[in-house]
Amino acid sequence: MNIVIKKQELINEIITKDIFNLIIKKDNCVLGLATGTTPLGVYKRICDTFKDKVSFKNVKTFNLDEYYGLDKSDINSYHHFMYENLFSKIDIDLNNTYFPNDIACNNYSLYDELIKSNGGIDYQILGIGRNGHIGFNEPGTSFLSLTHISELQDSTINDNARFFSSKDDVPSKAITMGLKSIMNAKKIVIIAFGKNKALAINRLINGQVDEKMPASILKYHKNVTLFLDEDAAKKLK
Ligand code: PGA
Repeated sequence: MNIVIKKQELINEIITKDIFNLIIKKDNCVLGLATGTTPLGVYKRICDTFKDKVSFKNVKTFNLDEYYGLDKSDINSYHHFMYENLFSKIDIDLNNTYFPNDIACNNYSLYDELIKSNGGIDYQILGIGRNGHIGFNEPGTSFLSLTHISELQDSTINDNARFFSSKDDVPSKAITMGLKSIMNAKKIVIIAFGKNKALAINRLINGQVDEKMPASILKYHKNVTLFLDEDAAKKLK
């Protein structure tokens, strides 16, 4: 795993450039996208700078996860988040943007089939939870998991309550790409900002590969870069 420690602004710039270069090489590339606070800077930078550089017309996107039982139009849905923070501000075709709960029949592993039939994810963006989750793969999730329904842990519900009017409004379940689904991506960047991620990052770097630390599976991937700001890297030394 490559580790890059830099200021948030610089990290956002590097990842944006990476994505633009990918689109220049392969205009129908497939991006794996995350929600949450962490990737917001990258999305803002993409929106502010894509014109005259690249077009997203042929790009396809697959989001990592979505709350279970929230309507697409709900302001707390990840559909809404992506539309507000990225899709409505770039020239992407909304028909090329996919979410795991768009799958009919509740057979969510069909999402993995859909990703595969589109050529697989070229570039996957990830955040990390304080408990080490990636997507909504909570500690204890099988490393062999494909897209599935996950039960959110209390710490995740508490962390995400800031977006809702009360903790009770946070859905207790989500549909998430599994750990195996994520590992199928050709290139992965995982980003952690802020001191509240420092403990998880220390466990990720210095701990064992273990299902109790879902992100640790990334150590088995050939092309992963972990981007940290100084605060998230604080406990590494
Ligand atoms: P955050 O969430 O970007 O809002 O910190 C990251 C995550 O839980 O994966």
